[in-house]
Amino acid sequence: MGYTEDLQKTAARHLWMANRDWTEMAETGGPTVAVEGKGLRVTDSDGNSWIDVNGGYISVGVGHGRVEIAEAAFEQAKKLSFMPAGTTTEATVRVAEKIASLAPGSLNRVFPVSGGSEATETALKIVRAYHGRRGQPGRYKVISREGSYHGATGGVYWLGTSAAGYREGFEPTQRGLLYAPQPNSYRCSLGGETPSECAVLCAEAVERLIVENGPETVAAVFAEPVAARACVVPGDEYWPMLREICDRYGVLLVADEIVTGFGQTGRMFAVEHWGAAPDVMAVAKGVVSTYLPFGAAIATDEVADVFAGKDNYLRHVFTAAGHPVCSAAALKNIEIIEDENLVRNAAEVGAYLKAQLETLKADHPIVGDVRGIGLMCAVELVSDRRTKEPFAPEMEVDSKVREKLRSRGLLLGASEGVIAIGPPLVITRADVDEIVHAIDLALWEIEGEMGIAGSV
Ligand SMILES: Cc1ncc(COP(=O)(O)O)c(C=O)c1O
Repeated sequence: MGYTEDLQKTAARHLWMANRDWTEMAETGGPTVAVEGKGLRVTDSDGNSWIDVNGGYISVGVGHGRVEIAEAAFEQAKKLSFMPAGTTTEATVRVAEKIASLAPGSLNRVFPVSGGSEATETALKIVRAYHGRRGQPGRYKVISREGSYHGATGGVYWLGTSAAGYREGFEPTQRGLLYAPQPNSYRCSLGGETPSECAVLCAEAVERLIVENGPETVAAVFAEPVAARACVVPGDEYWPMLREICDRYGVLLVADEIVTGFGQTGRMFAVEHWGAAPDVMAVAKGVVSTYLPFGAAIATDEVADVFAGKDNYLRHVFTAAGHPVCSAAALKNIEIIEDENLVRNAAEVGAYLKAQLETLKADHPIVGDVRGIGLMCAVELVSDRRTKEPFAPEMEVDSKVREKLRSRGLLLGASEGVIAIGPPLVITRADVDEIVHAIDLALWEIEGEMGIAGSV
Protein backbone atom coordinates (compact mmCIF):
# COMPACT_ATOMS: atom_id res chain seq x y z
CA MET A 1 0.00 0.00 0.00
CA GLY A 2 1.36 3.42 -0.93
CA TYR A 3 2.00 6.27 1.51
CA THR A 4 -1.17 8.22 0.61
CA GLU A 5 -3.43 5.19 0.48
CA ASP A 6 -2.18 4.03 3.86
CA LEU A 7 -2.88 7.42 5.42
CA GLN A 8 -6.31 7.65 3.80
CA LYS A 9 -7.33 4.19 4.93
CA THR A 10 -6.10 4.90 8.44
CA ALA A 11 -7.92 8.25 8.48
CA ALA A 12 -11.12 6.60 7.28
CA ARG A 13 -10.80 4.10 10.12
CA HIS A 14 -9.64 6.30 13.00
CA LEU A 15 -9.77 10.01 12.30
CA TRP A 16 -12.87 12.01 13.21
CA MET A 17 -12.38 14.94 10.85
CA ALA A 18 -14.33 18.13 11.42
CA ASN A 19 -17.51 18.32 9.34
CA ARG A 20 -16.63 15.34 7.13
CA ASP A 21 -18.25 11.93 6.71
CA TRP A 22 -15.68 9.12 6.90
CA THR A 23 -17.79 6.70 4.84
CA GLU A 24 -18.00 9.14 1.95
CA MET A 25 -14.33 9.94 2.43
CA ALA A 26 -13.49 6.25 2.07
CA GLU A 27 -15.65 5.89 -1.07
CA THR A 28 -14.29 8.96 -2.83
CA GLY A 29 -10.67 8.32 -2.00
CA GLY A 30 -10.29 11.14 0.50
CA PRO A 31 -9.13 12.86 2.51
CA THR A 32 -6.51 14.90 0.73
CA VAL A 33 -3.38 14.72 2.85
CA ALA A 34 -1.58 18.07 2.81
CA VAL A 35 2.16 17.88 3.20
CA GLU A 36 3.70 21.32 2.81
CA GLY A 37 2.83 24.86 1.87
CA LYS A 38 4.24 28.17 0.78
CA GLY A 39 2.11 31.29 0.57
CA LEU A 40 -1.25 30.25 -0.90
CA ARG A 41 0.09 27.04 -2.43
CA VAL A 42 0.06 23.65 -0.75
CA THR A 43 1.29 20.28 -1.95
CA ASP A 44 -0.43 17.02 -1.12
CA SER A 45 1.02 13.61 -0.42
CA ASP A 46 0.79 12.65 -4.11
CA GLY A 47 2.74 15.73 -5.15
CA ASN A 48 -0.29 17.64 -6.49
CA SER A 49 -0.21 21.41 -6.07
CA TRP A 50 -3.28 23.29 -4.82
CA ILE A 51 -4.26 26.88 -4.20
CA ASP A 52 -5.54 27.08 -0.65
CA VAL A 53 -7.79 29.99 -1.55
CA ASN A 54 -9.07 30.66 1.96
CA GLY A 55 -5.81 29.90 3.74
CA GLY A 56 -7.21 27.25 6.06
CA TYR A 57 -10.42 28.70 7.48
CA ILE A 58 -9.71 32.31 6.48
CA SER A 59 -6.98 32.00 9.03
CA VAL A 60 -3.49 31.67 7.54
CA GLY A 61 -3.06 35.43 7.08
CA VAL A 62 0.68 35.50 6.42
CA GLY A 63 0.47 32.43 4.18
CA HIS A 64 1.89 28.98 4.63
CA GLY A 65 5.52 28.15 5.26
CA ARG A 66 6.76 31.16 7.23
CA VAL A 67 9.93 29.80 8.72
CA GLU A 68 10.29 32.85 10.99
CA ILE A 69 7.19 31.84 12.94
CA ALA A 70 8.37 28.25 13.24
CA GLU A 71 11.72 29.51 14.51
CA ALA A 72 10.16 31.88 17.04
CA ALA A 73 8.06 29.02 18.40
CA PHE A 74 11.06 26.69 18.41
CA GLU A 75 13.26 29.16 20.27
CA GLN A 76 10.60 29.64 22.93
CA ALA A 77 9.93 25.90 23.25
CA LYS A 78 13.65 25.23 23.68
CA LYS A 79 13.83 27.73 26.55
CA LEU A 80 10.54 27.03 28.28
CA SER A 81 7.53 25.33 26.75
CA PHE A 82 5.16 25.97 29.62
CA MET A 83 5.22 27.99 32.78
CA PRO A 84 4.60 27.07 36.41
CA ALA A 85 1.14 27.86 37.82
CA GLY A 86 0.68 31.47 38.82
CA THR A 87 3.60 32.71 36.72
CA THR A 88 3.84 34.11 33.21
CA THR A 89 6.51 34.49 30.54
CA GLU A 90 8.02 37.34 28.58
CA ALA A 91 6.37 36.12 25.35
CA THR A 92 2.94 36.15 26.98
CA VAL A 93 3.42 39.64 28.41
CA ARG A 94 4.80 41.01 25.15
CA VAL A 95 2.00 39.62 23.01
CA ALA A 96 -0.60 41.11 25.38
CA GLU A 97 1.18 44.47 25.15
CA LYS A 98 1.34 44.25 21.35
CA ILE A 99 -2.32 43.33 20.90
CA ALA A 100 -3.38 46.11 23.29
CA SER A 101 -1.27 48.62 21.36
CA LEU A 102 -3.07 47.75 18.11
CA ALA A 103 -6.62 47.32 19.37
CA PRO A 104 -8.85 50.39 19.05
CA GLY A 105 -10.11 52.63 21.86
CA SER A 106 -9.22 51.57 25.37
CA LEU A 107 -9.14 47.84 24.61
CA ASN A 108 -6.07 47.36 26.75
CA ARG A 109 -6.60 44.23 28.83
CA VAL A 110 -5.85 40.97 27.01
CA PHE A 111 -6.97 37.52 28.19
CA PRO A 112 -5.01 35.04 26.02
CA VAL A 113 -6.65 31.75 25.05
CA SER A 114 -6.18 28.92 22.54
CA GLY A 115 -8.63 29.77 19.75
CA GLY A 116 -11.78 31.51 18.62
CA SER A 117 -14.36 29.63 20.65
CA GLU A 118 -12.39 30.11 23.84
CA ALA A 119 -12.13 33.82 23.03
CA THR A 120 -15.88 34.33 22.57
CA GLU A 121 -16.63 32.03 25.50
CA THR A 122 -14.35 34.18 27.64
CA ALA A 123 -16.08 37.31 26.34
CA LEU A 124 -19.46 35.82 27.27
CA LYS A 125 -18.31 35.21 30.84
CA ILE A 126 -16.77 38.66 31.08
CA VAL A 127 -19.93 40.48 29.99
CA ARG A 128 -22.23 38.58 32.33
CA ALA A 129 -19.85 38.80 35.28
CA TYR A 130 -19.29 42.50 34.57
CA HIS A 131 -22.94 43.32 35.17
CA GLY A 132 -23.10 41.06 38.22
CA ARG A 133 -20.10 42.80 39.78
CA ARG A 134 -21.77 46.13 39.19
CA GLY A 135 -24.89 45.08 41.06
CA GLN A 136 -26.98 44.11 38.03
CA PRO A 137 -26.99 40.30 38.04
CA GLY A 138 -30.31 40.37 36.17
CA ARG A 139 -28.48 41.35 32.99
CA TYR A 140 -27.79 37.94 31.49
CA LYS A 141 -29.51 38.05 28.08
CA VAL A 142 -27.35 38.20 25.00
CA ILE A 143 -28.30 39.49 21.58
CA SER A 144 -26.59 37.99 18.54
CA ARG A 145 -27.51 37.96 14.85
CA GLU A 146 -29.13 35.39 12.60
CA GLY A 147 -26.56 33.88 10.24
CA SER A 148 -23.60 34.60 12.47
CA TYR A 149 -21.25 32.04 14.02
CA HIS A 150 -19.31 32.59 17.22
CA GLY A 151 -17.85 29.19 18.06
CA ALA A 152 -18.40 25.51 18.74
CA THR A 153 -18.41 25.30 22.54
CA GLY A 154 -21.36 24.99 24.91
CA GLY A 155 -22.09 28.66 25.53
CA VAL A 156 -21.30 30.49 22.32
CA TYR A 157 -22.57 27.67 20.13
CA TRP A 158 -26.03 29.07 20.69
CA LEU A 159 -25.16 32.60 19.66
CA GLY A 160 -26.05 33.50 16.10
CA THR A 161 -27.81 31.01 13.87
CA SER A 162 -25.46 29.23 11.54
CA ALA A 163 -25.93 26.77 8.70
CA ALA A 164 -29.11 24.70 8.52
CA GLY A 165 -29.05 21.53 10.62
CA TYR A 166 -25.91 22.60 12.43
CA ARG A 167 -27.44 22.50 15.87
CA GLU A 168 -29.77 19.55 15.60
CA GLY A 169 -29.28 17.05 18.39
CA PHE A 170 -27.36 19.38 20.68
CA GLU A 171 -30.30 20.91 22.49
CA PRO A 172 -31.31 22.16 24.97
CA THR A 173 -30.30 25.66 24.10
CA GLN A 174 -29.58 28.29 26.72
CA ARG A 175 -31.83 30.81 28.39
CA GLY A 176 -31.85 34.44 27.46
CA LEU A 177 -30.61 34.35 23.90
CA LEU A 178 -32.14 36.88 21.53
CA TYR A 179 -31.60 37.05 17.79
CA ALA A 180 -31.47 40.15 15.64
CA PRO A 181 -31.55 40.25 11.83
CA GLN A 182 -28.34 40.35 9.84
CA PRO A 183 -27.78 43.63 7.96
CA ASN A 184 -27.50 41.86 4.61
CA SER A 185 -28.70 44.43 2.12
CA TYR A 186 -28.91 41.85 -0.70
CA ARG A 187 -31.60 40.03 1.26
CA CYS A 188 -32.70 42.52 3.92
CA SER A 189 -35.28 40.67 6.01
CA LEU A 190 -36.71 44.03 7.10
CA GLY A 191 -37.24 45.29 3.57
CA GLY A 192 -34.37 47.77 3.38
CA GLU A 193 -33.51 48.42 -0.24
CA THR A 194 -30.09 50.02 0.13
CA PRO A 195 -27.18 49.15 2.44
CA SER A 196 -28.00 52.27 4.48
CA GLU A 197 -31.68 51.48 4.83
CA CYS A 198 -30.95 47.90 5.79
CA ALA A 199 -28.28 48.97 8.28
CA VAL A 200 -30.61 51.43 10.00
CA LEU A 201 -33.53 48.99 10.14
CA CYS A 202 -31.35 46.20 11.50
CA ALA A 203 -29.73 48.42 14.14
CA GLU A 204 -33.19 49.64 15.17
CA ALA A 205 -34.24 46.00 15.48
CA VAL A 206 -31.45 45.50 18.04
CA GLU A 207 -32.76 48.47 19.99
CA ARG A 208 -36.29 47.06 19.87
CA LEU A 209 -35.06 43.73 21.23
CA ILE A 210 -33.38 45.53 24.13
CA VAL A 211 -36.42 47.65 24.91
CA GLU A 212 -38.98 44.86 24.53
CA ASN A 213 -37.00 42.41 26.65
CA GLY A 214 -36.17 45.00 29.30
CA PRO A 215 -32.81 46.75 29.18
CA GLU A 216 -32.20 45.74 32.79
CA THR A 217 -32.04 42.09 31.61
CA VAL A 218 -29.69 42.51 28.65
CA ALA A 219 -25.93 41.97 29.10
CA ALA A 220 -24.46 42.35 25.63
CA VAL A 221 -24.72 42.41 21.88
CA PHE A 222 -22.35 40.01 20.08
CA ALA A 223 -21.62 40.76 16.43
CA GLU A 224 -19.05 40.05 13.75
CA PRO A 225 -18.20 43.36 12.04
CA VAL A 226 -18.43 41.48 8.72
CA ALA A 227 -20.37 38.22 9.09
CA ALA A 228 -18.00 35.64 7.67
CA ARG A 229 -20.19 32.82 6.40
CA ALA A 230 -22.10 34.86 3.83
CA CYS A 231 -19.72 37.84 3.90
CA VAL A 232 -22.29 40.37 5.08
CA VAL A 233 -20.81 43.86 4.98
CA PRO A 234 -23.15 46.20 6.86
CA GLY A 235 -24.06 49.66 5.65
CA ASP A 236 -22.00 52.44 7.21
CA GLU A 237 -24.67 53.39 9.72
CA TYR A 238 -24.79 50.00 11.42
CA TRP A 239 -21.79 49.92 13.76
CA PRO A 240 -22.02 53.54 14.93
CA MET A 241 -25.70 52.92 15.67
CA LEU A 242 -24.96 49.68 17.55
CA ARG A 243 -22.41 51.58 19.64
CA GLU A 244 -24.90 54.34 20.45
CA ILE A 245 -27.73 51.95 21.24
CA CYS A 246 -25.57 49.83 23.55
CA ASP A 247 -24.40 52.96 25.38
CA ARG A 248 -27.96 54.23 25.73
CA TYR A 249 -29.09 51.07 27.54
CA GLY A 250 -25.92 50.13 29.45
CA VAL A 251 -25.44 47.05 27.25
CA LEU A 252 -21.91 45.92 26.37
CA LEU A 253 -20.88 45.63 22.72
CA VAL A 254 -18.75 42.61 21.81
CA ALA A 255 -17.05 42.54 18.41
CA ASP A 256 -16.13 39.08 17.19
CA GLU A 257 -13.06 39.90 15.09
CA ILE A 258 -11.92 36.29 14.91
CA VAL A 259 -12.08 36.26 11.10
CA THR A 260 -11.85 39.98 10.40
CA GLY A 261 -9.10 40.94 12.86
CA PHE A 262 -5.45 41.41 11.91
CA GLY A 263 -5.98 42.74 8.44
CA GLN A 264 -8.49 40.59 6.59
CA THR A 265 -10.79 43.50 5.69
CA GLY A 266 -8.02 45.93 4.78
CA ARG A 267 -7.85 47.49 8.25
CA MET A 268 -6.11 45.99 11.25
CA PHE A 269 -9.57 45.50 12.79
CA ALA A 270 -12.81 45.71 10.84
CA VAL A 271 -14.56 47.97 13.37
CA GLU A 272 -12.05 50.65 12.35
CA HIS A 273 -13.96 51.04 9.06
CA TRP A 274 -16.79 52.51 11.08
CA GLY A 275 -14.96 54.09 14.02
CA ALA A 276 -16.97 52.16 16.58
CA ALA A 277 -14.82 50.64 19.31
CA PRO A 278 -16.44 47.76 21.19
CA ASP A 279 -16.24 47.05 24.92
CA VAL A 280 -14.86 43.58 24.38
CA MET A 281 -13.23 42.13 21.28
CA ALA A 282 -12.52 38.48 20.46
CA VAL A 283 -9.57 37.62 18.20
CA ALA A 284 -7.97 34.35 17.02
CA LYS A 285 -7.10 33.02 13.52
CA GLY A 286 -5.23 36.01 12.03
CA VAL A 287 -3.49 36.94 15.29
CA VAL A 288 -1.29 33.86 14.87
CA SER A 289 -2.20 32.89 11.28
CA THR A 290 -3.19 29.58 12.95
CA TYR A 291 0.43 28.43 13.07
CA LEU A 292 -0.44 27.42 16.62
CA PRO A 293 -3.63 27.64 18.70
CA PHE A 294 -3.92 31.18 20.03
CA GLY A 295 -6.61 33.82 20.52
CA ALA A 296 -7.67 36.45 23.01
CA ALA A 297 -10.58 38.25 24.58
CA ILE A 298 -9.65 41.92 24.90
CA ALA A 299 -11.53 44.20 27.29
CA THR A 300 -11.55 47.96 27.63
CA ASP A 301 -10.02 49.43 30.76
CA GLU A 302 -13.52 50.39 31.88
CA VAL A 303 -14.72 46.78 31.68
CA ALA A 304 -11.52 45.25 33.04
CA ASP A 305 -11.40 47.64 36.01
CA VAL A 306 -14.53 45.99 37.35
CA PHE A 307 -12.43 42.87 37.88
CA ALA A 308 -9.58 44.64 39.65
CA GLY A 309 -8.96 44.36 43.38
CA LYS A 310 -8.27 41.54 45.79
CA ASP A 311 -10.71 38.61 45.54
CA ASN A 312 -12.42 40.34 42.66
CA TYR A 313 -10.63 38.62 39.78
CA LEU A 314 -12.46 36.82 36.98
CA ARG A 315 -12.63 33.16 37.92
CA HIS A 316 -11.78 31.70 34.58
CA VAL A 317 -8.85 29.59 33.43
CA PHE A 318 -7.73 27.32 30.61
CA THR A 319 -4.55 25.33 31.20
CA ALA A 320 -3.03 26.49 27.92
CA ALA A 321 -4.16 30.14 28.23
CA GLY A 322 -1.19 32.40 27.54
CA HIS A 323 0.90 29.49 26.27
CA PRO A 324 4.41 30.88 25.78
CA VAL A 325 5.14 29.02 22.54
CA CYS A 326 1.86 30.16 20.96
CA SER A 327 2.46 33.68 22.28
CA ALA A 328 5.91 33.76 20.66
CA ALA A 329 4.39 32.58 17.37
CA ALA A 330 1.65 35.23 17.55
CA LEU A 331 4.18 37.96 18.29
CA LYS A 332 6.25 37.00 15.25
CA ASN A 333 3.13 36.74 13.09
CA ILE A 334 2.04 40.27 14.03
CA GLU A 335 5.56 41.54 13.35
CA ILE A 336 5.36 40.05 9.82
CA ILE A 337 1.94 41.63 9.19
CA GLU A 338 3.35 45.02 10.17
CA ASP A 339 6.78 44.76 8.53
CA GLU A 340 5.39 43.57 5.21
CA ASN A 341 2.48 46.05 5.15
CA LEU A 342 0.06 43.19 4.74
CA VAL A 343 -2.95 45.18 5.88
CA ARG A 344 -2.38 47.62 3.03
CA ASN A 345 -1.93 44.70 0.64
CA ALA A 346 -5.25 43.29 1.83
CA ALA A 347 -6.97 46.61 1.07
CA GLU A 348 -5.39 47.00 -2.37
CA VAL A 349 -5.53 43.43 -3.65
CA GLY A 350 -8.92 43.06 -1.96
CA ALA A 351 -10.32 45.92 -4.07
CA TYR A 352 -8.89 44.22 -7.16
CA LEU A 353 -10.40 40.87 -6.15
CA LYS A 354 -13.83 42.40 -5.73
CA ALA A 355 -13.59 44.20 -9.06
CA GLN A 356 -12.57 40.98 -10.83
CA LEU A 357 -15.39 39.03 -9.19
CA GLU A 358 -17.83 41.74 -10.31
CA THR A 359 -16.96 40.94 -13.91
CA LEU A 360 -18.48 37.47 -13.46
CA LYS A 361 -21.91 39.06 -13.27
CA ALA A 362 -21.82 40.03 -16.93
CA ASP A 363 -21.43 36.45 -18.15
CA HIS A 364 -23.14 34.36 -15.53
CA PRO A 365 -26.86 34.59 -14.90
CA ILE A 366 -26.47 32.46 -11.76
CA VAL A 367 -24.34 35.12 -10.08
CA GLY A 368 -26.86 37.06 -8.02
CA ASP A 369 -24.57 39.21 -5.93
CA VAL A 370 -20.92 40.05 -5.48
CA ARG A 371 -19.95 41.79 -2.25
CA GLY A 372 -17.00 42.29 -0.01
CA ILE A 373 -14.55 44.47 1.83
CA GLY A 374 -10.79 44.02 1.71
CA LEU A 375 -9.96 40.36 1.42
CA MET A 376 -13.41 39.18 2.45
CA CYS A 377 -15.57 38.73 -0.62
CA ALA A 378 -18.48 36.57 -1.67
CA VAL A 379 -20.22 35.47 -4.82
CA GLU A 380 -23.82 34.48 -4.18
CA LEU A 381 -25.38 32.07 -6.67
CA VAL A 382 -29.10 32.17 -7.39
CA SER A 383 -31.49 30.29 -9.65
CA ASP A 384 -33.21 33.53 -10.66
CA ARG A 385 -31.37 36.80 -10.50
CA ARG A 386 -34.56 38.87 -10.61
CA THR A 387 -36.29 37.16 -7.67
CA LYS A 388 -32.99 36.23 -5.91
CA GLU A 389 -34.37 32.71 -5.51
CA PRO A 390 -31.64 30.43 -4.13
CA PHE A 391 -30.96 27.04 -5.71
CA ALA A 392 -32.92 24.18 -4.17
CA PRO A 393 -30.67 22.03 -1.92
CA GLU A 394 -31.32 18.95 -4.11
CA MET A 395 -29.51 20.69 -6.96
CA GLU A 396 -26.36 20.33 -4.86
CA VAL A 397 -24.84 23.49 -6.20
CA ASP A 398 -22.42 23.77 -3.26
CA SER A 399 -20.80 20.42 -3.93
CA LYS A 400 -20.78 21.07 -7.69
CA VAL A 401 -18.85 24.30 -7.09
CA ARG A 402 -16.42 22.49 -4.84
CA GLU A 403 -15.83 19.67 -7.35
CA LYS A 404 -15.39 22.00 -10.32
CA LEU A 405 -12.94 24.18 -8.42
CA ARG A 406 -11.01 21.17 -7.16
CA SER A 407 -10.64 19.90 -10.70
CA ARG A 408 -8.84 23.18 -11.39
CA GLY A 409 -6.59 22.93 -8.37
CA LEU A 410 -8.49 25.26 -6.04
CA LEU A 411 -9.36 24.34 -2.48
CA LEU A 412 -12.53 26.39 -2.13
CA GLY A 413 -16.17 25.55 -1.66
CA ALA A 414 -19.59 27.10 -1.26
CA SER A 415 -22.11 27.06 1.55
CA GLU A 416 -25.80 27.58 0.86
CA GLY A 417 -24.98 29.04 -2.54
CA VAL A 418 -22.38 31.48 -1.29
CA ILE A 419 -18.75 31.18 -2.36
CA ALA A 420 -17.02 33.07 0.46
CA ILE A 421 -13.49 34.07 -0.49
CA GLY A 422 -11.09 35.16 2.26
CA PRO A 423 -7.55 34.55 1.02
CA PRO A 424 -4.32 35.12 2.95
CA LEU A 425 -3.13 38.72 3.21
CA VAL A 426 -0.09 37.90 1.07
CA ILE A 427 -2.18 37.26 -2.05
CA THR A 428 -1.04 38.93 -5.29
CA ARG A 429 -3.01 40.20 -8.28
CA ALA A 430 -1.69 37.26 -10.30
CA ASP A 431 -3.15 34.87 -7.70
CA VAL A 432 -6.47 36.73 -7.96
CA ASP A 433 -6.47 36.34 -11.75
CA GLU A 434 -5.87 32.62 -11.45
CA ILE A 435 -8.58 32.15 -8.83
CA VAL A 436 -11.22 34.24 -10.62
CA HIS A 437 -10.46 32.51 -13.92
CA ALA A 438 -11.04 29.12 -12.29
CA ILE A 439 -14.31 30.31 -10.74
CA ASP A 440 -15.37 31.67 -14.13
CA LEU A 441 -14.73 28.31 -15.82
CA ALA A 442 -16.45 26.42 -13.01
CA LEU A 443 -19.56 28.59 -13.39
CA TRP A 444 -19.64 28.04 -17.16
CA GLU A 445 -19.56 24.30 -16.59
CA ILE A 446 -22.25 24.36 -13.92
CA GLU A 447 -24.51 26.51 -16.08
CA GLY A 448 -23.85 24.22 -19.04
CA GLU A 449 -24.80 21.14 -17.04
CA MET A 450 -27.93 22.84 -15.78
CA GLY A 451 -28.91 24.00 -19.23
CA ILE A 452 -28.76 27.66 -18.22
CA ALA A 453 -27.85 30.06 -21.01
CA GLY A 454 -24.40 31.36 -20.21
CA SER A 455 -24.73 35.06 -20.85
CA VAL A 456 -26.78 37.80 -19.31
C1 LIG B 1 -16.65 34.64 13.54
C2 LIG B 1 -16.13 33.44 14.25
N1 LIG B 1 -16.15 33.41 15.58
C3 LIG B 1 -15.69 32.34 16.27
C4 LIG B 1 -15.18 31.25 15.62
C5 LIG B 1 -14.68 30.06 16.40
O1 LIG B 1 -13.30 29.97 16.30
P1 LIG B 1 -12.54 28.58 16.52
O2 LIG B 1 -12.93 27.68 15.41
O3 LIG B 1 -11.08 28.96 16.51
O4 LIG B 1 -12.94 28.04 17.85
C6 LIG B 1 -15.14 31.24 14.23
C7 LIG B 1 -14.61 30.06 13.51
O5 LIG B 1 -14.70 29.92 12.32
C8 LIG B 1 -15.65 32.34 13.53
O6 LIG B 1 -15.66 32.37 12.18
